[in-house]
Amino acid sequence: MKAYHLNSHAGAGHLVRADVSKPEPANGEVRVRVEAVSLNYRDLLILDRAGQNEVNGRVPLSDGAGIVDAIGAEVAQWKIGDRVAASFFRDWISGPFKSSYVASSLGGNATDGMLTEYVVLPASALVPVPPHLSSVEAATLPCAGVTAWHGLVTRGGLSKRGTLLVQGTGGVALFGLQFAAALGARAIVISSSDEKLARARTLGGSILINYRNTPDWDIAVMKATSGEGASHILELGGPGTYDRSLRSVASGGKIIQIGVLTGFGPKPDLARLQWENADIIGVTVGSVEHFSAMNRFLTEHAIHPIVDRIYDFEDVPEAYAHLRSGSHFGKVVVTL
Ligand SMILES: NC(=O)c1ccc[n+]([C@@H]2O[C@H](COP(=O)([O-])OP(=O)(O)OC[C@H]3O[C@@H](n4cnc5c(N)ncnc54)[C@H](OP(=O)(O)O)[C@@H]3O)[C@@H](O)[C@H]2O)c1
Repeated sequence: MKAYHLNSHAGAGHLVRADVSKPEPANGEVRVRVEAVSLNYRDLLILDRAGQNEVNGRVPLSDGAGIVDAIGAEVAQWKIGDRVAASFFRDWISGPFKSSYVASSLGGNATDGMLTEYVVLPASALVPVPPHLSSVEAATLPCAGVTAWHGLVTRGGLSKRGTLLVQGTGGVALFGLQFAAALGARAIVISSSDEKLARARTLGGSILINYRNTPDWDIAVMKATSGEGASHILELGGPGTYDRSLRSVASGGKIIQIGVLTGFGPKPDLARLQWENADIIGVTVGSVEHFSAMNRFLTEHAIHPIVDRIYDFEDVPEAYAHLRSGSHFGKVVVTL
C-alpha cells in the first residue's frame, strides 16, 4: 500500500512516498481504508522538526476518515463498510485529560498518523462519520473541529448570549465561527484579508476586522461591542495576539488558549484577568467523547465543514505548501 513518511534526508520537504505492507488488525483493532485526510498547522510544525531525528519514518497527519475494511477479534461495535473517522488522541476516550495520552496522538512524535492507504487503530479510537458528511468533510473534524468544540462548548459553555472572537479564517477559527452561528451567539472575526472577512460574514460573522489595516484590533473590538468585549476568545495567535486578547475579553469572559500561529514566545501580563474576573481555558484537542458530542451537534444543525481545497495523494507537498502560504479559508484536504 502507499503511504508518506517523514524523513530528514529527503531534502527540504522531509516527505517521502513509501510502499509498505498492509497492516493486519489484532484483537480489539480495526483496519480503515483511508479515503481522505486533512492538514493542520501542527503538521507544518512537525514537518519542520523532521530535520531532527525524532519523527523520522513516521507517517504524518492526525486527521482522516474512511471505511472499515477489516476487523480483529473481540470488536463488537464496528462492521466492514462502516464510515469512520479517527480521534486525534488515540487513547483519550473520555473523562479528564492525562498527559500520558500525548505519546499516542496520531501523526505525532511517537505514533504513526493517517497519510497512508490503510491504518490499523483500536476500535475505541474511532467515531462514526455523521451521515450528512462526505469523507472529505469528515477528515477535517478530528483536530480543528474537536478543539473548537471542546474549548468553546464543553469547557467554555458558549451560548446564544455570548460573543465569540476568532482569530483568522483557518481550520479552528471557522469551526468556532460555525458553532457560534449555530448556537445563536454573536461572532467577531479578525483576518488579514477583506475578501476572507466577506466570506466569514456569510458564515455568521457580524463584526469583521482586518488586523492588517487595524493592528489595534482590540480597540476596534471594544468599540464594536460598546465597551463590553468578547465573552469567548479562541486565542490562536500566541505571543503576537495574546495581549490584545486579554484587552478584548469581557468581564467574566473566557480566553480559550489554543494556538501558536505567531510562535512560542514570551508570556503576556495576565493582570487584567483578575480585574475582569475572567478565565483562561487551556485546550489540547479533545477526547473520543468530545468528538461524538460534536458530531451529534453537526448532525442536528446540518453543519458542513468549510473545505478550502482538495489535493490528490500525489500532490501532498503542494497541500503542505498551500497551508503554509496562509491563503486558505478553512481546511486543506488530500484524497486517497
Ligand atoms: N491546542 C490544540 O489542541 C490545538 C489544536 C488545533 C490547532 N491548534 C493551534 O491553533 C492554531 C490554528 O490552527 P489551524 O490548524 O486552525 O491553523 P490554520 O488553518 O493554518 O490557520 C491559519 C490562519 O490563521 C490566521 N492567522 C495567522 N496569523 C494570525 C495573526 N497574527 N492574527 C490572527 N490570525 C492569524 C490566518 O488567517 P487570515 O488569513 O484570515 O488572517 C491564517 O490563514 C495553530 O497555532 C495550531 O497549532 C492547537
